[in-house]
Amino acid sequence: MSVEETSTEVILTHPENKQTSVKVLKYGATIFSWILNGKEQLWLSSAAKLDGSKPVRGGIPLVFPVFGKNDDDEYLSKLPQHGLARNSTWEFLGQVSANPPTVQFGLGPENANPELSKLWPLDYSLILTVELGAEHLKTHIEVNNTSSDQLLKFNWLFHTYLKIADIEDTMVSNLTGTKLYDQMLKESYVDKQPVVSFHEELDRIYQEVDSDRLIQVIDKGHPVHTIKRHNLPDAVVWNPWVNKSKGMADFEPKSGFQEMVCVEPGHVHDFIELQPGKTWEAYQLLYKDSLNYQVV
Ligand code: BG6
Repeated sequence: MSVEETSTEVILTHPENKQTSVKVLKYGATIFSWILNGKEQLWLSSAAKLDGSKPVRGGIPLVFPVFGKNDDDEYLSKLPQHGLARNSTWEFLGQVSANPPTVQFGLGPENANPELSKLWPLDYSLILTVELGAEHLKTHIEVNNTSSDQLLKFNWLFHTYLKIADIEDTMVSNLTGTKLYDQMLKESYVDKQPVVSFHEELDRIYQEVDSDRLIQVIDKGHPVHTIKRHNLPDAVVWNPWVNKSKGMADFEPKSGFQEMVCVEPGHVHDFIELQPGKTWEAYQLLYKDSLNYQVV
């Protein structure tokens, strides 16, 4: 069986390679492990809560309907940081393809976290499709505005924690020339550096990154992760470094920041405004590719 369901998780194993698998927690529909050819690709804190008591620290948490904290929208401003999708138990909708093994999860007001749904009482339905390829992991999201008369205003983001060998040897490429909002400096500017490198806490929202740009995570000259985006114009790059990691109770080991980098494709620089009855969709594709500097 390439798909196994327990009360809390869904595990996919590639039918042609038992060394390739993905584990999805129903809470948050959070992918918390992706093993490719025997090697873990995602970073997961050893103190991450997998019992539904808080969002998972690591893997691929889903951010919806708001990225960060909103101050001015009547309803979105009431939600906690990064919204309600990562704090809700999604329904497992089943397997939709045998090879590559593909499964779906659904969320709507009927099964979302009731406390948070009270604060954001809108009509919507989400379908997350997880496809485990022999050489890739694709996460596709469909957002439907199920209301007959109300606009659905939201952000979407895949908060992907990638596992790396050493942050000080790591660079992120193909973001050069892109406008960004630096959450540390609280300033917007255009990144003129050929690559992003890490020497301290870094928290940047790259905006409207050309859709044909692949974002690559490079370790000492070798590309270790390649990220393709569809309909996700923005990309957050984040590493908490020493002090921020210390302040997060569920971030362990405290030296873990050295082995992770978040590259988070999303639509967060503004809100998607979906008309009643309409659908919006997007995906993130993680795979391996050769070094491809598209812009320096
Ligand atoms: C990133 C943000 O996406 O998520 C950071 O850019 C934030 O500012 C980080 O610190 C983690 O957020 P949280 O809510 O999971 O601690």
